[in-house]
Amino acid sequence: MDYSKFFSADVPSFLRSPVREIFRKVDLSAICSFAGGYPAAVTFPTDQIPSLTAKVLEKYGTKALQYGATQGVPELREVIARRYGVPVSQVQITTSSQQGIDVCSRVFLNPGDVVLADNPVYLGALQSFKAYRAEVHSISETVASNIKFIYVIPDFNNPSGKTMTLEEREEVVRVARELDILIIEDSPYRELRYSGEPVKTIRELASERTLQLGSFSKIFAPGFRLGWIIGPEELLEQIYVCKQCLDLCPPVLDQYMAAEFMGSGALDANLVKTIAEYRRRRDLMLSLLEKYMPSGVSWTYPEGGLFLWLTLPEGVDTVAMYDEALSRGVAYVAGSFFYTDGSHRNTMRLNFSFVDEAKMEPGIKLLADIISHAV
Ligand SMILES: Cc1ncc(COP(=O)(O)O)c(C=O)c1O
Repeated sequence: MDYSKFFSADVPSFLRSPVREIFRKVDLSAICSFAGGYPAAVTFPTDQIPSLTAKVLEKYGTKALQYGATQGVPELREVIARRYGVPVSQVQITTSSQQGIDVCSRVFLNPGDVVLADNPVYLGALQSFKAYRAEVHSISETVASNIKFIYVIPDFNNPSGKTMTLEEREEVVRVARELDILIIEDSPYRELRYSGEPVKTIRELASERTLQLGSFSKIFAPGFRLGWIIGPEELLEQIYVCKQCLDLCPPVLDQYMAAEFMGSGALDANLVKTIAEYRRRRDLMLSLLEKYMPSGVSWTYPEGGLFLWLTLPEGVDTVAMYDEALSRGVAYVAGSFFYTDGSHRNTMRLNFSFVDEAKMEPGIKLLADIISHAV
């Protein structure tokens, strides 16, 4: 039977994530994977989950298992509002920040509209923008018409690992004000800083036109699928209506647990340990790259987050190299997947949070060997 006639006109624009395709094929625990953006399991507060669950059930009873408000439970919105110094009315809870990206795309984009974004860009965002048939242009291409918003990850970018300077953030704000467009500030890594000084957020610079997306995935556990949007009430109102048909409400038990975890100070205590763990892993990866990579290979020095970005000599093709790498037991993501035009085939993204420290040295050594033969 030909099923293709059943699909909507949006379906041909859906992009498959090459990263997720890798996970479908490979048992991550069996190889040395620098590919995904998975947090380290040791950072999850696993031992606190039973008492946290018991506490929430004792405090909220069946309410914790019932449907909740579409904006999110008040307790969680209040904790987030306090932490980031905004009114509760400017906080919408989302079922993860990926949903935050998608719901913003759905509310703001018409087919043919333009999103200005970093190039390379986070794949999940690209998937949402394309699913609503928007075009994605680089931030420097402000001459395009129909520009709807600027999408940026100012802190510890996925995939590049870069952090925008204050001047770069001010420039984004200047462009957005000049074109009178919105800014989506995707900020899942901001709290994971290992060195350097925090820079003002874009929301702090232009709260009137910024929707800032936050996430519990990297500071609590991604399995909870919880995030939030901070933004102007008029914009959140429409997002609230849209979210009614997406999921009615974010997961309620998860929200109460997150509220308890964040509100009690346990999240901050866990964050201290998480940051120390990731700083060690980042530094280890940087020192191993220094030790093993052949000359002509360069990389970014991320001040936080989970990724760094490698640039290999011109002509080396990380897409072509991939099968060999995988068969020898090491995985990465080819950098060209993050470019809308598939260019920059001599780049790759490496994740340093997921791989155990013990596996990191053999993994980088192997990768360096594969690269040396390709140069
Ligand atoms: C930049 C960025 N935004 C959003 C997400 C989605 O995170 P989540 O949906 O788990 O909150 C990720 C995940 O890796 C990311 O890197």
